[in-house]
Amino acid sequence: MEIKTLISEEELKVRIAQMAQEINGFYAGQELYVIVALKGAVIFAADLVRHLNMPVRMEFIRLSSYGNDKVSSGKVNAVDISLPNLNGKNVLIVEDIIDTGLTAKFLLDFIALNFKTKSTKFCSLLDKKSARKVDVEADYYGFEVDNKFVIGFGLDYEGHYRNLPYIGHVS
Ligand code: IMP
Repeated sequence: MEIKTLISEEELKVRIAQMAQEINGFYAGQELYVIVALKGAVIFAADLVRHLNMPVRMEFIRLSSYGNDKVSSGKVNAVDISLPNLNGKNVLIVEDIIDTGLTAKFLLDFIALNFKTKSTKFCSLLDKKSARKVDVEADYYGFEVDNKFVIGFGLDYEGHYRNLPYIGHVS
C-alpha cells in the first residue's frame, strides 16, 4: 500500500498550536471540559490540550461509525458514552475528522439532550466538507481535506496507521 503525505508533521504542529491559541482566547480563565472521541482523536487531543492554558478536565467517549472498511456504516454506535454531569459547564468535543457529519451530529444532539451546558463547541483536526450528509459545522477545525480516505495521526485503516506522525492518503 502506498501512502502519500497530505499534511506533514510540522504543518500539524503549527496548526494545532494556532487552534489552541484560538481556544485559549475564547475560554480565557474559564474551566473547560474537553470530551475526546476515541479512538481517532487521541493523538490530536493529546497535542491540543498541552497548549491550553485554562483549567482543563478531560473525558473520553468511544464511538464507532466505520466497520472494517473505508465506507461509513451510516449509523453511529456509542460504545461507551458515560460522562459526568455537564450542566453549566463549557464543553469542547474533540474529534479527528468530520466526514458525513453523522458522528458530530450524534454527539452534539447527545450533549444537548442530556445536559444544559454553559457552552458546547466542536473541534476537529480535519474536515471533509464535501462528504457531508447532515448539516453540521465545526467551531474549530485544523485542515479541510478532499473526500479521500486519510490515515495517520490517530486515523486508522483497519486498525493500522494511527501512529503515523503525519496525515497521509492511501492509494
Ligand atoms: P462521520 O460520522 O462520517 O462524520 O465520520 C466520523 C468518523 O469516521 C471519524 O471520527 C473517523 O473515525 C472516521 N473517518 C471518517 N473519515 C475517515 C478517513 O478518511 N480515515 C479514517 N477514518 C475516517
